[in-house]
Amino acid sequence: MFADDVRQGLSATPRQLNPAYFYDALGSCLFDAICQLPFYKITRTELAMLDAHAGAIVAGLPDPACLIELGCGNGEKIARLVAALDRAGRRATVHLVDVSASALEQTTHRLARWHGVSVTAHRCRFEAGLAQAIAQCGARGAVMILFLGSNIGNFDPPAAASFLAGIRAGLRTGDKLLLGVDLVQAEAELLLAYDDPVGVTAAFNKNILLRINRELGGNFELSAFDHRALWNADAGRVEMHLLANRRQAITIPAADCAVTFETGEGIWTESSYKYRPEQVAALAAAGGFACETRILDAERSFSLNCLTA
Ligand code: AVJ
Repeated sequence: MFADDVRQGLSATPRQLNPAYFYDALGSCLFDAICQLPFYKITRTELAMLDAHAGAIVAGLPDPACLIELGCGNGEKIARLVAALDRAGRRATVHLVDVSASALEQTTHRLARWHGVSVTAHRCRFEAGLAQAIAQCGARGAVMILFLGSNIGNFDPPAAASFLAGIRAGLRTGDKLLLGVDLVQAEAELLLAYDDPVGVTAAFNKNILLRINRELGGNFELSAFDHRALWNADAGRVEMHLLANRRQAITIPAADCAVTFETGEGIWTESSYKYRPEQVAALAAAGGFACETRILDAERSFSLNCLTA
């Protein structure tokens, strides 16, 4: 629960919050805005890959195809695959898993224009939603799980491998996992992507404090926190933090939480791990998947991987 996670996260060392909590209605909009920025290329690159390869990606799936997307966001990615199925005269059963009610509504609405598509929305965390979706797929041929946009990057590499293994445990041999993974790039590029000069990422980061204020009665002053993004080369991750620029005594009544921030103290809000192409194959193997096809963009900044259980 949000209150428990906030209390635990803010009493931990270092203080931290789970990035899943970014995505309330405003946070989902701010994320979509990030994706429009020229500095944040993940979504644009992945959409271009889907535009070019959707037909081949869905070609081997049964009719109706069962697609389960973990973290559907605004739904524009799964729409590419559904459109490809539709062009081939085939139907789809779609399960959407997201923590954001607004994302689920938007995606459900977006997919409604295809008549051969039935959509079920699961508003929960990935693990619980996947279990529900698989249970509801019933008698079936191969399913395809979509885990796109480098959402996998929010897990540290061991947790990413166990997350994939957890997905694998619910699948049968031959089921598919379409995995989008952002790759290691020049530090300057990465910092621009996570600390954009328009300030959208800063707003996205600070919105988590706004959410704590609104939902849990917290008294964060947003102007007292600065957005900070850094590339941790040793760990292979971009980190986002919120740093107090003055002393702050915070109380969060509904989380039964009181905490003081000295100037310069902060909250670690997100890690976005970046991989090298060969590390992706190793990650897939550690999770119990074989990498069937790998698509890279010309800059080798992003990889879309078709994995088989
Ligand atoms: C949606 C988790 C993949 O880590 O790049 C965008 C979220 N954070 N800008 C990412 C995000 C800052 C994004 N993921």
